[in-house]
Amino acid sequence: MEMVYLSRADVEALGMTMKEVLKAVDNGFRLKGLGKTEMPPKPGIHPRKDCFIHAMPAYVKEVEAAGLKWVSGYPPNVAKTLPYITGLLVLNDTETGIPIAVMDCSWVTAMRTGASVGISAKYLARKGSSVAGIIGCGVQARASLRALVETVPTLKQVRCFDLYPKASEKFIEAMGAVFGNLKFTACTGPEEMMDGADIAVSAIPIVVDPAPPLDAGMLKEGGLAVSLDYDSAWTSKAMGECDKFVSDDVSQLLSTKEHGVYFGGIPKNIYADLGELAAGLKPGRQNERERIFSMNMGIAVDDMVTAKVLYQKAVKTGAGVRLPL
Ligand SMILES: NC(=O)c1ccc[n+]([C@@H]2O[C@H](COP(=O)([O-])OP(=O)(O)OC[C@H]3O[C@@H](n4cnc5c(N)ncnc54)[C@H](O)[C@@H]3O)[C@@H](O)[C@H]2O)c1
Repeated sequence: MEMVYLSRADVEALGMTMKEVLKAVDNGFRLKGLGKTEMPPKPGIHPRKDCFIHAMPAYVKEVEAAGLKWVSGYPPNVAKTLPYITGLLVLNDTETGIPIAVMDCSWVTAMRTGASVGISAKYLARKGSSVAGIIGCGVQARASLRALVETVPTLKQVRCFDLYPKASEKFIEAMGAVFGNLKFTACTGPEEMMDGADIAVSAIPIVVDPAPPLDAGMLKEGGLAVSLDYDSAWTSKAMGECDKFVSDDVSQLLSTKEHGVYFGGIPKNIYADLGELAAGLKPGRQNERERIFSMNMGIAVDDMVTAKVLYQKAVKTGAGVRLPL
């Protein structure tokens, strides 16, 4: 028996596009909405303050994707010029349970996280949305913009803010080179970044005692907020003023809340799981005025459907290294 090993460089070289990731992730959400996935809430360990290592298993019927992601998030790594997110993903054969692939998971994590933002926008953004506001100009911000460009074709402007101006400069340089048709503005603070934003994405580090920079009154009428950083960036008043509160996994949201560290201030009424929107079981946005909040914590279903496509590409092209079990 042998399995495929894919390094970060191997994964990237497979050339899976954001369009392909969005298609896989949208289908994953649809199957989740239809009850065709198995995904227990992720357990985690916390070797250092504000640091996590999570185990994220999932099985997705029809796609026949099954596996586990073992992913860490270490905010102090940034000062050491190490990546914040690192980890591995194992895929199993659903018929025999035998591991068929081990791959670096940082590319998959960023792309499927970005795709989740694109999918939130697909179902929840106001038609004609043209301005994106992004706080935290790191890895997830870049992938989120790539996805928004695909699902919000009317996008024209990006307003971004980072605690470190160098980070927003680098973001604009990198993304401006890819999307020359977009107008980028480096903002000096959260208020300026939110001014006129139709879609606001937060991607700052998750911390236990946050001082959320985004407050009530900042998200415009008809706006969509997507949080990738739990409740680190948004005050409970800001979340509470939204007409609809959606999550990529309501049961994970509630089980994380039960542990008492995060999500103490989320609204009581949760409108839907993104899966229910993708499966057509509930409507997404229903009028031009709604403020909508999407809390996307990141789900293993998204990882597995993306990894399955990567695995198939690797088998087809012979990419990576074959290792004996
Ligand atoms: N929901 C998901 O599926 C998912 C997946 C991966 C990562 N994440 C989360 O996304 C967030 C960003 O991860 P990343 O990999 O892009 O990290 P990153 O280190 O690449 O980027 C984070 C950026 O935020 C900036 N920042 C820090 N504090 C800030 C503040 N108060 N205001 C403005 N900017 C600030 C940093 O300078 C940095 O540029 C983390 O919270 C991470 O846990 C979520």
